Amino acid sequence: MNLIDDKQFRPYLSTEQIDAVLDRLALQINQDYGVNDKILLVGVLKGAFIVMADLIRKLHSDVEIEFIRTASFGKSLDSAGTISILKDISVDVRNRHIVIVEEIIDSGRTLKFLYERLKSAKPLSLKIATLMDKKSKRLVDLNPDYVGIEVEDEFLVGFGLDLEEKCRNLPSIYALRYPN
Ligand code: IMP
Ligand code: MG
Repeated sequence: MNLIDDKQFRPYLSTEQIDAVLDRLALQINQDYGVNDKILLVGVLKGAFIVMADLIRKLHSDVEIEFIRTASFGKSLDSAGTISILKDISVDVRNRHIVIVEEIIDSGRTLKFLYERLKSAKPLSLKIATLMDKKSKRLVDLNPDYVGIEVEDEFLVGFGLDLEEKCRNLPSIYALRYPN
């Protein structure tokens, strides 16, 4: 199976570059939480599962993980307007330090929705960590607390990111040359 046709995709971030970005992300989080702190990381499925797996192994605090899955309705290469919960977390977030973990933020709608929802459950603190941030695409007011790397407005695949459910297993990140 050849997922990557180099006429369609170009290498964007190598495995080594992603690891360095994850180191930076972990460093920021490790500066804010001590070894005695307990953090609940909430990964946004499906895309964030690889970031979550790598990130938690770089954190010094006492971490627990949960996953949440959203569905958005709209065009396949674009982020959609309507968001709903497909799979919820199964613990009470009250009085806990929560960090939402994303692989990429685009319009910010998904995270805005999740942020407001988790906030209403009264956690002790609520922060957002993302491997990548397509800041120029933001449509809502949302500022992640921890950003690994800011990226341009390009469609990216690999390292958990998909193109119609494919390519999530690629160990590095590729950019689609032209979307159509
Ligand atoms: P937002 O709600 O527009 O911020 O979209 C966030 C979600 O859209 C991300 O968590 C990804 O799952 C998906 N997404 C955004 N940009 C890309 C991309 O370049 N490639 C693959 N998925 C993306
Ligand atoms: Mg995602």
